[in-house]
Amino acid sequence: MTSDEIRKKFLAFFEKRGHAIIPSASLIPEGDSSVLFTTAGMQQFKPYYIGKKDAMADFGSKNVCSIQKCVRTSDIDEVGDESHLTFFEMLGNFSFGGYFKEEAILFAHEFITKEMGLAIDYVSVFGGDDMVSADNESEEIWKRVDSNIEVRKFGREDNFWGPTGDEGPCGPTTEIYIDGIEIWNIVFNEYYQKKDKTFEKLPTPGVDTGMGLERLAKTIQKVATVFDTDLYSPLIESCDVYIRRAGRERVHGDPALHSKRIIADHMRTSVFLIADGLVPSPDERGYVLRKLIRRAYFHANRIVESPGMLLGQVCKKIVDIYGDDSRRLDGTWEIVNEEIEKFKSSLKRGENQFDKISSNIVSGKKAFDLLQNFGLPLEITKDIASEKNMSVDVAGFEEEFKKHQELSRAGAEKKFRGGLLDHSEMSVKYHTATHLLHQALRDVLGGHVLQKGSNITPERLRFDFSHGAKMTDEEIKKTEELVNAKIAEALPVSYEDIPLDEAKKRGAIGLFEEKYGDKVRVYQIGERDSQFSLEFCGGPHVKNTAELGRFRIVKEEAVSAGVRRIKAILE
Ligand code: SER
Repeated sequence: MTSDEIRKKFLAFFEKRGHAIIPSASLIPEGDSSVLFTTAGMQQFKPYYIGKKDAMADFGSKNVCSIQKCVRTSDIDEVGDESHLTFFEMLGNFSFGGYFKEEAILFAHEFITKEMGLAIDYVSVFGGDDMVSADNESEEIWKRVDSNIEVRKFGREDNFWGPTGDEGPCGPTTEIYIDGIEIWNIVFNEYYQKKDKTFEKLPTPGVDTGMGLERLAKTIQKVATVFDTDLYSPLIESCDVYIRRAGRERVHGDPALHSKRIIADHMRTSVFLIADGLVPSPDERGYVLRKLIRRAYFHANRIVESPGMLLGQVCKKIVDIYGDDSRRLDGTWEIVNEEIEKFKSSLKRGENQFDKISSNIVSGKKAFDLLQNFGLPLEITKDIASEKNMSVDVAGFEEEFKKHQELSRAGAEKKFRGGLLDHSEMSVKYHTATHLLHQALRDVLGGHVLQKGSNITPERLRFDFSHGAKMTDEEIKKTEELVNAKIAEALPVSYEDIPLDEAKKRGAIGLFEEKYGDKVRVYQIGERDSQFSLEFCGGPHVKNTAELGRFRIVKEEAVSAGVRRIKAILE
């Protein structure tokens, strides 16, 4: 059975049983700053568990299912072995007050044994502790479903899930094991864990299940590792094809295989992060992407003479495999390649530094210096050290890192003002273009349009706003034309610091960001009283819209219910 057949069967099974199929949310969680990336299928549904949103109203059902793209980087050091991954797809069914333990267990049992034709090894349930009692109900249900099934009882470590981030729904789990591996995690969200770690009972208990597609595919396809499934073997194969063609392999056997797995995993994660709008950068999320690309490059460089070309092949293969997403994956390689170009020469210089280290321990200071001055993430330093039989003082590195973070925190806070990554000339232009776009959208779509998020890099702007429907081609065209008309009018851009009341009276829009004394700063585009846009903002902006060039919307898509996202460029 192919992975795609598994995906289809999963969705069809739950759709037939009254579940609405919901698309995967972005890997970059919206409106949930407690986590860096989407790590579980339930994350986009958090508001439904706590009664903040109504699933009936939004999805027409209290029960939903999805295949969620997830990124988890906590085990990044382990990638390269037989099972660890940083990106995976999670098959999940969820209920917000529709059904509970009985149905959830019956569904899972039927899907695994009948649809997938697999034999369950054993299942586990929560054995109870001083805060939450044992889940005897699940045990009884399992026994009723199959009197021969072995039910093991585990503690909080194994059979209690959540929350993601520092608060949210959580609860006891029951898990299905096949060939000794946990295949399906079924969570009964009965509690809400608060920031202070205390629990509250949720008014309506919910179900949240998650099953990793890669692991399931490995089991069904009866292969030795996840890298031998149809999700990964084409990527490993494309490395091999390239190596054969290039005619020279620098390392062989296990070390080469280890590197190929890292390349396949890290490139797949990078492609999907980029598809969701992330670009490599020094900020937290962007830095994870930077690390993944750099490490993939390091390992490609370890096995072949032209590492960039090898990564290009793998990237292309990923885009081919995830055909449905191909439109969204366009342009991914350009971003990867740009990062590689930045890194190439510093990797060489960084590697040379190792020859100068006389002891067989890389000190924390040195590891940090390699990061600061040569762009070597700790993971790569560890990789090089292990090749040379050296070790790295990781605790020392972390200490240095923390010291540095504290020093630069004040600066960093300034830097990310207004969603700007940096204050380069291009980012500033995109910032002004964002104000034009915001107002243009309000003119074209209506006054309900408000900014929900903004992210600006020197390459593009990304703007999230409230609007209930997909924009029509006509609306997109009108918006583009309006922005371009305002650019052509060569409007002056200026700011004033005025009392908040007055700013509101004059109709300033946007998120109120900064206060200068008891006044707020507003930027206007155009002459006072006949301005096109008036927006709360700390700047910086260009002096005149004529500086912007031509504005083009390259993508318009949904972010979540009622929120749309535009990506646009200046040409
Ligand atoms: N939230 C649980 C998990 O991530 C089940 O979906 O494992």
